[in-house]
Amino acid sequence: MEVIVKNSYEEMSKLAAEMIAKIVRSKPNAVLGLATGSTPIGTYKELIRMHKEEKLDFSNVTTFNLDEYVALPPTHDQSYRYFMNDNLFNHINIDKKKTHVPDGMAKDIPAFCKWYEEQILKAGGIDVQLLGIGGNGHIAFNEPGSSLGSRTRVKTLDEKTIKDNARFFKTIDEVPKYAITMGIGTIMEARSLILLANKENKADAILKTVEGPITAMVPATIVQLHPKATIITDKAASSKLTREYAEEPSVLKR
Ligand code: GLP
Repeated sequence: MEVIVKNSYEEMSKLAAEMIAKIVRSKPNAVLGLATGSTPIGTYKELIRMHKEEKLDFSNVTTFNLDEYVALPPTHDQSYRYFMNDNLFNHINIDKKKTHVPDGMAKDIPAFCKWYEEQILKAGGIDVQLLGIGGNGHIAFNEPGSSLGSRTRVKTLDEKTIKDNARFFKTIDEVPKYAITMGIGTIMEARSLILLANKENKADAILKTVEGPITAMVPATIVQLHPKATIITDKAASSKLTREYAEEPSVLKR
């Protein structure tokens, strides 16, 4: 696991976008695992810039998103499908048919989850999975206590996650209570992981993720076991770390 501490959110986002672009350039039909939340927005902005100014080509790329709220239609402006269209897909030359976001409106959710896993396998597996982190250490919607071997399934959201996400809804009662999420086992099968964290409110979760013991109570700690994981933070999110970390990834890795 490599930990990179950048000076700012912009620098963190630029590096993540560069790492993703490098994969897309060397493998035009790459499979990207994508995340929502406020953290990856800067990365998506940079990828859009690269598409517009440097002709980064997404026409053969396939994507799988980590999660989606149950019972929010894709037209709802807080659904993750809406978020992805708005923040990335509408601005690049990706074929929307190749973009996958879990279907929060699925009638048979277990059958849908099984299908989603099959589609990932059919596409050849995920080349790089982008991750944010919840204030309680969750990844995707794998809340504390989630099995470290879990697969795509429905999860009840934690009280803390509901409170954290209330800022995106008019009232806290409108925040969905359930979500479909890739499992931790699913995420760990990606060939590489990039976990992003910025701001002070992620400092505790990053301390536990980087320097703490692996535990289901802090799901993000599992990335310590991934053979090719990069954690990129800004200064604030890394402010509680006790060791020195690099500002650039090792040459061999890039
Ligand atoms: C949600 C998402 C996660 C995301 C987290 C953090 O719970 N399901 O994938 O990492 O929020 O969000 P933010 O980046 O806005 O802090």
